Amino acid sequence: MSTDVIKVNTPSRSYDVVVGQGVIDEVGDLTRKACGGSVACVISDSNVAPLYANAVAESLEAAGYRTTLQVFPAGEQHKRLSTLSDLLEGLAESELSRDDVVVAVGGGVTGDMGGLAGALYLRGCKVVQVPTSLLAMVDSSVGGKTAVDLEAGKNLAGAFFQPSLVVADVDCLDTLTPALFTDSCGEVIKHGVIRDAELFRRLVSKPINAPDFDPAELQSVIVRNIEIKRDVVDQDERERGLRQILNFGHTIGHAIEAASDFKLGHGSSVAAGMCCIARASARMGWCPDEVATDIVSAVEAYGLPTDTSEDHDTLFSYAVHDKKRHGTTVNVVVPLAIGSVEVRKLSLEEFRHLIDLGCGTQA
Ligand SMILES: NC(=O)c1ccc[n+]([C@@H]2O[C@H](COP(=O)([O-])OP(=O)(O)OC[C@H]3O[C@@H](n4cnc5c(N)ncnc54)[C@H](O)[C@@H]3O)[C@@H](O)[C@H]2O)c1
Ligand SMILES: [Zn+2]
Repeated sequence: MSTDVIKVNTPSRSYDVVVGQGVIDEVGDLTRKACGGSVACVISDSNVAPLYANAVAESLEAAGYRTTLQVFPAGEQHKRLSTLSDLLEGLAESELSRDDVVVAVGGGVTGDMGGLAGALYLRGCKVVQVPTSLLAMVDSSVGGKTAVDLEAGKNLAGAFFQPSLVVADVDCLDTLTPALFTDSCGEVIKHGVIRDAELFRRLVSKPINAPDFDPAELQSVIVRNIEIKRDVVDQDERERGLRQILNFGHTIGHAIEAASDFKLGHGSSVAAGMCCIARASARMGWCPDEVATDIVSAVEAYGLPTDTSEDHDTLFSYAVHDKKRHGTTVNVVVPLAIGSVEVRKLSLEEFRHLIDLGCGTQA
């Protein structure tokens, strides 16, 4: 199977996203070409490090880097300032210079924290993302958003900082649990809804979470997802406008996720959030009914939730405490057709009404 290269061109940096089977062994050579430098600090979590950190480190050493490895405990609860602080001290101990490289090997938690460590250390060194989860490949490793969580909420302390290279080895997905793979399919479906009706149809006709799904076809779906994210962030790196469409399903989705006390996965919460906002939009007459029924059927085909039983007042209060709210209004992404969405600025009352229209109606 061949390797794909997607070129990202944001105002702050241009870089390649290399996607293929076995490309983890090429991280060293690719890093050498993209970054130069002499030290590479590999950052990974306690689940991913035993699986892939060695292969990455060996590849980097073969390309002439002195390497160090820092492993933090896996899990979103460790995506916080104290872990970041340990990572930064570790970079200093490694005597990393600004010309050297932080290599984040893992899921979105590792990528977000490794990326932020690279953005902060010496006011910014080079970062290479080696995403190993489906979510990290199709979403978090591309676009330069980095963050840690605060007590007050998720991703509240961060920076926009583009990597210099992304290397996604689709073979790494083999060790992911089926549940986690399926959860991330919520974001994959989202990409179809916001930008690509053909991808959406492909995803529905052959769900990518089927056990016998063809690896070449999976790679092509991942590549298409990265292209969609690239097209959006190339035009709006800092989420002033267009990039907001990537938040489709997220305003209600975040509320569902928080109301479940984060027991429901992010992708599952977004899937339910997409169905809720689509039903509400159809009932408002903003899109045809089929748009909502198509989104619900797609989500169902992946075995993801299509609704929520959470109390509407609870959902509303979680949603309006989200950092993406602007004063007395809330920006909500609504579907117009499959492949096309728009951002609407709603008053809090209008948004509260949408929750009533779209949530808890399918029980
Ligand atoms: N920066 C962005 O633009 C952006 C976008 C979306 C999500 N995110 C962030 O991404 C995070 C979620 O990402 P995630 O779902 O990858 O979470 P994660 O990094 O916690 O990974 C999920 C679990 O899978 C394990 N894992 C990862 N790859 C594996 C592999 N190949 N084999 C076996 N186990 C593996 C991890 O150790 C972890 O236990 C959240 O913190 C979210 O805020 C960031
Ligand atoms: Zn998301």
